[in-house]
Amino acid sequence: MQRAAFQRAVLNWFDQHGRTNLPWQQDISAYRVWVSEIMLQQTQVTTVIPYFQRFIDSFPNVQALAAAPLDNVLHHWTGLGYYARARNLHKTAQLVSDQHSGEFPSTIDGLCDLPGIGRSTAGAISSIAFKIPATILDGNVKRVLARFSATEGWPGKSDVVQKLWLVAEQYTPNHRIADYTQAMMDLGATVCTRSSPSCGQCPLASDCTAYAQGNQTQYPGKKPRKILPVRNTCFLLIHNQQNELLLQQNPPTGLWGGLWVLPQVESEVDIAASCAALGLDIVDQQPQEMRRHTFSHFHLDYQPIVVNTVDRARIVADTDNQVWYNPENPLSLGMPAPVLALLHP
Ligand code: ADE
Repeated sequence: MQRAAFQRAVLNWFDQHGRTNLPWQQDISAYRVWVSEIMLQQTQVTTVIPYFQRFIDSFPNVQALAAAPLDNVLHHWTGLGYYARARNLHKTAQLVSDQHSGEFPSTIDGLCDLPGIGRSTAGAISSIAFKIPATILDGNVKRVLARFSATEGWPGKSDVVQKLWLVAEQYTPNHRIADYTQAMMDLGATVCTRSSPSCGQCPLASDCTAYAQGNQTQYPGKKPRKILPVRNTCFLLIHNQQNELLLQQNPPTGLWGGLWVLPQVESEVDIAASCAALGLDIVDQQPQEMRRHTFSHFHLDYQPIVVNTVDRARIVADTDNQVWYNPENPLSLGMPAPVLALLHP
């Protein structure tokens, strides 16, 4: 298909069916586009919308985000997962604020130098916020182009993704770049869907190689299935007599970095020593049903255990990284979804 015909088909489709009411499409700025693109990296539009609105209400511009405590930023991310995104967002806000006079760089290289911004996110910011032609290749666009060009293999592999970048660049227009970028994302999200694409609605169907072959859902190639290892732990719901629960803050880097979590022990036999070290006397303990949380690289099987205690000496005071949390009167802390679910069942 000729480049111009491809662009025309995509843009005409966008004029009739593209999305124009998403919150980040209003009052467009590099800041708003960047925040939305980071949130949308691993998360569906419907999930992102309320998070985006709360985030922008609290941090309306890059300076406000840079000045906010990381804890507050993580609190706004609670439940979205992939918390490195929030830590990088905060770091990038500080860099833009301090080293770029509060303005985002407008080049792809300048954007890619910022933590958490990869080539596709840089392309989206450039094209949507600055209207400077640039190519994107997020998960949705990879699917559209892998099918259109029948590019085989899993796009997590560098040779496959390189081929897709070449296809994506080949069709990127010099005009109406913001609409084209949004159109390609929308086409992937609403028409060229993963398991049941609506090829009858697709402006590219007449030239789509996978459609001609009748094997659309074989593209893009699947990630080779790896059996995820399982790790085991116990989450302690340590209550004091005021019915508050003990939370501890993780170190800033690593798994659930900077987030507030329940104290953990490897097995039930370690609870007594753990509580003794905290100066707590155990009144009773009740193991709950085992649960599973799956990370990208392992399953975490955890057993919640309610431990009622007496904090006789009041040794366990609130410190910088330890608090007694009252679910009736919740603090604004960043927590992983499984912890939030246990505190607010
Ligand atoms: N996914 C990634 N970026 C998006 C955008 N701007 N609109 C809708 N979905 C998206």
